[in-house]
Amino acid sequence: MCGIVGYVGFRPALPILLSGLKRLEYRGYDSAGLAMLTDNGLWVSKSVGKIKMLEEQIADKEITSTRGIAHTRWATHGEPTELNAHPHTDNFEEIALVHNGIIENFRTLKEYLVRKGVVVHTQTDTEIIVHLIRLNYRGNLTEAVREALLQVEGTYGIAVISMLHPDTIVAARKGSPLVIGHGEGENFVASDVSAMLEHTNRVVYLQDGEIATITPSDYSITTIQNVKISPSIEEVTWTLDMIEKEGFDHFMLKEIHEQPSTIRNAIRGRLNFDDGIARLNGLNLQFEQLRRIKRIVITACGTSWHSALIGEYLIEELARIPVEVEYASEFRYRSPILEDGTILIAVSQSGETADTLSALREAKNHGTLCLGIVNVVGSSIARESDGGVYIHAGPEIGVASTKAFTSQVMVLTLIGLLLGRMRAVSVQHGRELTEWIQKIPQQVEMILRNSEPIRQIAQQFAQVNNFLYLGRGINFPVALEGALKLKEISYIHAEGYPAAEMKHGPIALIDENMPVVVIALKDSVYDKVMSNIAEVRARKGQVIAIATEGDTEIAERVNHVIYIPHTHHLLTPLLSVVPLQLLAYYVALLRGCPVDQPRNLAKSVTVE
Ligand code: G6P
Repeated sequence: MCGIVGYVGFRPALPILLSGLKRLEYRGYDSAGLAMLTDNGLWVSKSVGKIKMLEEQIADKEITSTRGIAHTRWATHGEPTELNAHPHTDNFEEIALVHNGIIENFRTLKEYLVRKGVVVHTQTDTEIIVHLIRLNYRGNLTEAVREALLQVEGTYGIAVISMLHPDTIVAARKGSPLVIGHGEGENFVASDVSAMLEHTNRVVYLQDGEIATITPSDYSITTIQNVKISPSIEEVTWTLDMIEKEGFDHFMLKEIHEQPSTIRNAIRGRLNFDDGIARLNGLNLQFEQLRRIKRIVITACGTSWHSALIGEYLIEELARIPVEVEYASEFRYRSPILEDGTILIAVSQSGETADTLSALREAKNHGTLCLGIVNVVGSSIARESDGGVYIHAGPEIGVASTKAFTSQVMVLTLIGLLLGRMRAVSVQHGRELTEWIQKIPQQVEMILRNSEPIRQIAQQFAQVNNFLYLGRGINFPVALEGALKLKEISYIHAEGYPAAEMKHGPIALIDENMPVVVIALKDSVYDKVMSNIAEVRARKGQVIAIATEGDTEIAERVNHVIYIPHTHHLLTPLLSVVPLQLLAYYVALLRGCPVDQPRNLAKSVTVE
């Protein structure tokens, strides 16, 4: 979703802003723009489409400036046009502003501004903020921003510059992340650390309700009520190569290949092999508190919702605790029943998804204990949870989530094991599981080494219009995830179904043009899945099976087989999803789709 970069310092601002914007491209956007302070006043340039277009548009301009703000916009209010792109300026063209988030009362504020004689040019909710700042300006930019923000309702991360204060960026946050980067004689502000990581790893995360005044040599933070805050500088441990492609054609492919090591990171230090149990100190829960859990609600969106569904199978089977999985967007508006003994787990790669964050807050309002399974350290969900587990997958740049998914599933497995060992799981069963868990990274490596057959299958099906994915039990959510990956990046319509449900609808679609991916592993439902395969084949559907190594029998019953190594049945999703990620990747590649930045999608959905 939208991205912000700002710079005040001694170096030319333009290349810093442009390279910062490029680092934010992965978040998804449809237009971009920047504003810089020059000797001749405020200089603004905007363009629809990719940052490359903006770059071309300003290539022949000679601009010397060491201060500026820039933005990538993902349209919500108003089409993705040059006019609606940020930065927006006041009627005197002296103040410029970029904004992430949504101003909910912008219509009322617009009427108020028009009554005051302000000319509003765009269809955006954002533009009203800059006019409000101007109306409240009495010689102090930070104060004007404060006064303006007291009038707005909604969410924002903003950065403001003005030729009236050429040394300053004012930034403020409520519900949309912003981080200040601290340099020597220069400072940065961005919606995401990756935009400034090549310049500094010393950062201050702005909290909701805070306003920062940033100059080249200093920054100060106050709350919106004007209480001074002493910021604490944190060192980001992510390195630059972690946000670069390192020889891979796409971030998605790199991230798929990182899974052996990211899964290892999710397990590291968390397994006790002797007792067959997991150690998860971040949960901040005593043994007794864990034993008192009667019901678990897991809430999430997108791919994280799929890992939550797998968590439901895992925890219910291992710990015999009832688990309910809810889309965060539904949970927050359905007056949830959260009785005593219920805990909520929010699963989110970014830790910033607006619906998941609101669901967490809703549960907290009910007095429910809330845990987070999050990747981005210091993100809103991580901070607002009572405890939780970081998945430690490192930055995920590809919009289609891959390595975060497997790490989330691994962490949910560890939670299942921990809760299970306090209830239904014996030491011996626990030990057996820990042994299998430890083998997973190596087994993922084996699948990745043998990806050529998957590429060949992709070649055969790259031009079809529909795909069906089937799985049963714990591999039903994997079917959903496989279908989601394909539709996200290749734009092929794909649906995931529990294999047996096929007869209740999707079977009507099956003919010789319909590829059906079936997860058909050697487990307790193998025979049932084989019957479902027969039903597809009887209607001339093309079956691509994900099967267990050594199952030679299946090869005669399907059109294509992709083998994965044998593991404990509860761990199979960690392996079965990998070929599906690769299949989606290769199909998208063959269709010429922009794999890392699919149209209309955003990496981190910070609006409702
Ligand atoms: C967006 C992304 C998905 C992601 C979902 C939830 O839709 O494109 O890849 O699964 O948000 O994001 P989260 O950061 O909460 O896991």
